[in-house]
Amino acid sequence: MIAYLPPMGWNTWNTFAQDISEELILSSAEKLLSTGLKAAGYEYVVVDDCWALRERDGRGRLVPDPQKFPHGMKYVADRLHAMGLKFGMYSCAGAMTCAGYPASFNREYLDARTFASWGVDFLKYDYCFKPASADGKNLYRRMGLALASSGRKILFSGCSWGVDATHEWIGSTGANMWRSTPDIFDTFDSVKDIIKRQYDILPYGGVGCFNDMDMLVVGMHGKGNVGLSGCTDDEYRLHFAAWCVLASPLMIGCDIRNLDETTKGILTDPTLLSIAKDPRGNRPYLIRFADSDDLPVFVRALEGGDLAVGFFNLSDGAVNFWVSADDLGVPEISGKILAGVEAYTGQKVRSANGVLSARVEAHACSVMRLRVAQR
Ligand code: GLA
Repeated sequence: MIAYLPPMGWNTWNTFAQDISEELILSSAEKLLSTGLKAAGYEYVVVDDCWALRERDGRGRLVPDPQKFPHGMKYVADRLHAMGLKFGMYSCAGAMTCAGYPASFNREYLDARTFASWGVDFLKYDYCFKPASADGKNLYRRMGLALASSGRKILFSGCSWGVDATHEWIGSTGANMWRSTPDIFDTFDSVKDIIKRQYDILPYGGVGCFNDMDMLVVGMHGKGNVGLSGCTDDEYRLHFAAWCVLASPLMIGCDIRNLDETTKGILTDPTLLSIAKDPRGNRPYLIRFADSDDLPVFVRALEGGDLAVGFFNLSDGAVNFWVSADDLGVPEISGKILAGVEAYTGQKVRSANGVLSARVEAHACSVMRLRVAQR
């Protein structure tokens, strides 16, 4: 299958880790519907690590933990499908998952068949406990082929954290998205680190195999498995906007059963989602830094000649950002300007004197959706 848009959904790991259950999955799924998140595009419900028993069954198959999933995984899939949602699960290319549960090394075909029989639509595939003698790309290619021949369309989400030059080979494995960085934590330093790691790998994302910057920490406020100190709302706004402009999959990681209005507003900002879901699927690019590499300006060409331009202030002080309209493709002599709207605030923005500019506070961003207009 080809994923034409970055997948969107909710994943258990960031908040719940091993504390997962059928009840948690189904009640969170209901929240996706009742909060309008599903209507906004969040459709995959992904059960991450720690769903299985520590041992396979007599026929070598993975077994859901009956304490956590008393009716098994097919039941969960059926319930999610009845809600119009899609079901994601997790395994690993090594001998064990990262949390020490059985994984798919050398069992790729059996496990792909098992997932298909349960009605799984998405498989996140991790990289822990890989034997040193095994070739990572070959293991991903094997699982890619096993999924493709499983008889069911299963989105393949590679999770080898960008190590072993993942960007060079992941597109050959059938993966629809690839994790480009170490795990995210709910701190601004972690968000900043992940964004800065993108500068050199932007050409390796986009339709075909989206560059996955990891699950979102928006709205976690320091609670849960990767909680730590939490971020401010401005920092969460910057985080979400960067993931949208850079075409990362958008997997919510907070507890959506207690979604606050600010978090919901960030996750459903219409301008950002229109950029994230742009049907043209062009790759984003880094056009310049304002002063230092803590101040990237990212651009993405959108359907119909629109442009997304993002000023991201990863530094600790306010900054006057600018980018030349000429460099964005609109020379002064054309008689045209760029005009549009800023995400989150809804403010109208336009280029003036051949320059697009904005003052951006520390740890904040200004992302604009622009169109070529008559001066
Ligand atoms: C790795 C992955 C995480 C999560 C955990 C589960 O660290 O990168 O996203 O899936 O494993 O153990």
